[in-house]
Amino acid sequence: MEIRMKAAVHLEDGKMVRPVIAGNWKMNKTVAEAVDFVSRLVKALTPRPEPEVIIAPPFTAIQAVAELLQGSPVRLAAQNLHEAEKGAYTGEISGAMIREAGCTHVIIGHSERRTLFGEQDERIHRKLVAALAAGLKPIFCIGETLQEREEGRMKNVIERQIKEGLNNLTADDIRRTLVAYEPVWAIGTGRTATPVQAEEVHRFIREWIAGRYGNEAAAEMAILYGGSVTPKNIAELMSQPDINGALVGGASLDVGSFVQLVAYQSIEGV
Ligand code: 13P
Repeated sequence: MEIRMKAAVHLEDGKMVRPVIAGNWKMNKTVAEAVDFVSRLVKALTPRPEPEVIIAPPFTAIQAVAELLQGSPVRLAAQNLHEAEKGAYTGEISGAMIREAGCTHVIIGHSERRTLFGEQDERIHRKLVAALAAGLKPIFCIGETLQEREEGRMKNVIERQIKEGLNNLTADDIRRTLVAYEPVWAIGTGRTATPVQAEEVHRFIREWIAGRYGNEAAAEMAILYGGSVTPKNIAELMSQPDINGALVGGASLDVGSFVQLVAYQSIEGV
């Protein structure tokens, strides 16, 4: 079964996985700060960047940022959604609301949602279904803890998260889904997975997708790495055959550093 490919390599049928650089701002930036960042980003990113660029501001800044991004290739993601269409869910936001505010993508199953807010695989699956129903592209996050890795359970955990998260999604749903591998021990710790460690898991994910959805779906899937990505280590990570993009927290908050991440292809030595 030959499914390995380089990021952005053309496939036999002429399609390719375009690299994706996504910034997850988490609970950072007021509306004024977000507007300032995006005004500067839009100026810095002309001409059109090679990677697909996505930013995920907090809910409060989405609409203002969406207005500034009109006509720009930068895409917007929300960081979470509620799985119900509407109703008595105080404090929650639906897929339709996110879409209307200007998002094309939504992050689902981030490890901070899993550990700090008790989200489990079955709930994450319902969120994926809701996102797809609302016309959003999910950025579906998975990743093992340090303890799970050290106990040799990493692949079991990753497999359970993918299997239960995707559950019975159709091939068409999968075509609209991005996966982000974010080892919990690498998030915000400065301890990045080595390119070899990340590639091993990315390849495992792609092979799982190939086994369930076929080689074409697997080859076309954007699999992003997240966890202490910086302008210093991004080029080496992106040079791995199964790493198609990066989901960046801390280093996406400064516009200069984010622009460097987007321009990773011009970093020396690649
Ligand atoms: P850091 O880049 O700050 O490690 O965060 C990664 C992350 O959680 C992105 O979703």
